[in-house]
Amino acid sequence: MKIIKVENNLLKHLISKIRDKNTDSFLFRKYISDISKILLIKFLEDENLVYKEIETWIGKLEQPFLEEDRYVFIPILRAGLPMLDGALEILPNSKAGFLAIKRDEETLESKIYYKRLPDLKNKIAVILDPMVATGGSLSLAIDILKEENPEKIISLNIIAAPEGLERLKTKDFVMYIAQIDEKLNDKGYIIPGIGDAGDRLFNT
Ligand code: URA
Repeated sequence: MKIIKVENNLLKHLISKIRDKNTDSFLFRKYISDISKILLIKFLEDENLVYKEIETWIGKLEQPFLEEDRYVFIPILRAGLPMLDGALEILPNSKAGFLAIKRDEETLESKIYYKRLPDLKNKIAVILDPMVATGGSLSLAIDILKEENPEKIISLNIIAAPEGLERLKTKDFVMYIAQIDEKLNDKGYIIPGIGDAGDRLFNT
């Protein structure tokens, strides 16, 4: 695992907004989507551009483009969904795949219960998951995606606990993370964190 910590004032501001328990679910979803765009912009700084000829008002010009169709965004349901909205607002011609992973609240072990992925050969798989708590879901997602042989695996995450990062350190992927918090509590929640991201996103 390579960790890229993304830092800027807007990101700090948005993380404070999602920590605030009085942020309602509408704004919470919007802030999660905005944070995802910032993480994605950082990741795209490291990506190749290809030159293509386009018609402009002054005639034909070779211009740089990202290879949008090489990116497959894979939110981990359900909390990753607003991150997909943000990513596809920036790169609307990219693809999406879906993994639904739930953790057993007793054992805290992660289980997959839905998988729908496009062909990942020669693609860049970008996992979207706001919270990295025990690291169980992300670890399972990486194992599942590896079997599909993507060119590389990236993950965009908002808040991680050190325990989750420790668990993931041998995995072959690059993580773009906005915030590393203090610890997990005995129920596997990140402290201080934001509470249950899925519940706050979807009013449950
Ligand atoms: N999932 C969440 O939504 N929040 C946590 O703190 C940990 C896992």
